[in-house]
Amino acid sequence: MSIFGNEDIEEVVPTRRVVKNSLGIDLGTLNTVIAKPSGDKFDLYQIPSVVSVKKDDPTAVLAVGEEAKKMLGRTPEDIIAVRPLKKGVIENIAQAQALLIRAMEIGIKEGETVGRIVIGIPGDSSEVEKNAAEEIGRKAGAESVLVISEGLAAAIGAGLPIAEPNGTMVIDIGAGSTDLVVISLGGINDIETVRFGGDDVDQRIVDLIAEKENVAISIHDAEAAKIEVGKVHCSAEFENLTYEVMGKSMETNRPKKVVIDSNLVADAVEPIIQEVVAGLNIILERLPPELMRGIYTNTVAVGGSSRLKGLKERIFDESDIPIQISEDPMTVVAKGTAIVAAEPLALEPEVRLKAMK
Ligand SMILES: Nc1ncnc2c1ncn2[C@@H]1O[C@H](COP(=O)(O)OP(=O)(O)OP(=O)(O)O)[C@@H](O)[C@H]1O
Ligand SMILES: [Mg+2]
Repeated sequence: MSIFGNEDIEEVVPTRRVVKNSLGIDLGTLNTVIAKPSGDKFDLYQIPSVVSVKKDDPTAVLAVGEEAKKMLGRTPEDIIAVRPLKKGVIENIAQAQALLIRAMEIGIKEGETVGRIVIGIPGDSSEVEKNAAEEIGRKAGAESVLVISEGLAAAIGAGLPIAEPNGTMVIDIGAGSTDLVVISLGGINDIETVRFGGDDVDQRIVDLIAEKENVAISIHDAEAAKIEVGKVHCSAEFENLTYEVMGKSMETNRPKKVVIDSNLVADAVEPIIQEVVAGLNIILERLPPELMRGIYTNTVAVGGSSRLKGLKERIFDESDIPIQISEDPMTVVAKGTAIVAAEPLALEPEVRLKAMK
């Protein structure tokens, strides 16, 4: 019997254990990513973090993921589609549990049991939020559940040298929130969470178009424009691209085309990027000088919003810290959780304890 209470363990070499049916899950505000270790690779799955519920009973979940997303805007009035997480934090336990069960169904074949799951949650989560995530995992049928900080998971997934004393930093810019996490000696040295992310950028685009053009556009079109032509104001030059969407004139209620360009998206991003920079300044103020070299050489940005053009340049303009943008920004947290799920020794005992603190 292992310390995780899991019988399903194969001895590969005396000091390394591999658990069958382990899963890593990144419960995100917008996307839930499931990573299943498969040899030295991962099978990756993604579902929208959306459930549909009865309006008068938000715990009665009717559909999850893609199915729930399809119901958006098309449901009878007594059914609504909602997100179980808000700003990176579990808001409704019953809904998050339904999402996690669906994630486990996707990752594990029918009839098989789920051994260990590792769930990534925001690093500044309270004890109550951590316990809620663990409880949800156990209720969803996992034999053992480990909850680790998304920042630490991202660092492991990105292959950063987390165990070294020099320090390394992850900047995770997601949909609902941004985590800045300093890691050294395998534990979290410092963390700052800014409750702003890509969702706020989308809303700002909608607001700016309403203000400037008197046209109402959908948040989905705003997001599409951001992804297609978005950038961040910075010292480097990027081509000003354009993206056309169909909105509704607020004067005439008639269809009206509007053009969204890179500069407008950069204006929409500006207050959010300023919050991220403020968070980074707080981290740098508290940073022990011993960790400066590690941060200088090993800072990685992850999360879907790290794909915005000019982000790297802007962070350097503001902080003199060169950052790398992850090549797989939206799956790296799930990969890190899957590495820990398959190979708990990826987190040495003392590291694991720190990860859970
Ligand atoms: N190419 C792109 N350019 C800009 N933003 C992008 C791009 N691709 C995805 N995004 C944005 O990334 C965000 C989703 O990222 P991610 O999947 O990391 O979030 P999440 O993990 O669900 O959220 P959180 O970590 O805040 O809970 C969305 O706001 C999406 O619009
Ligand atoms: Mg995330």
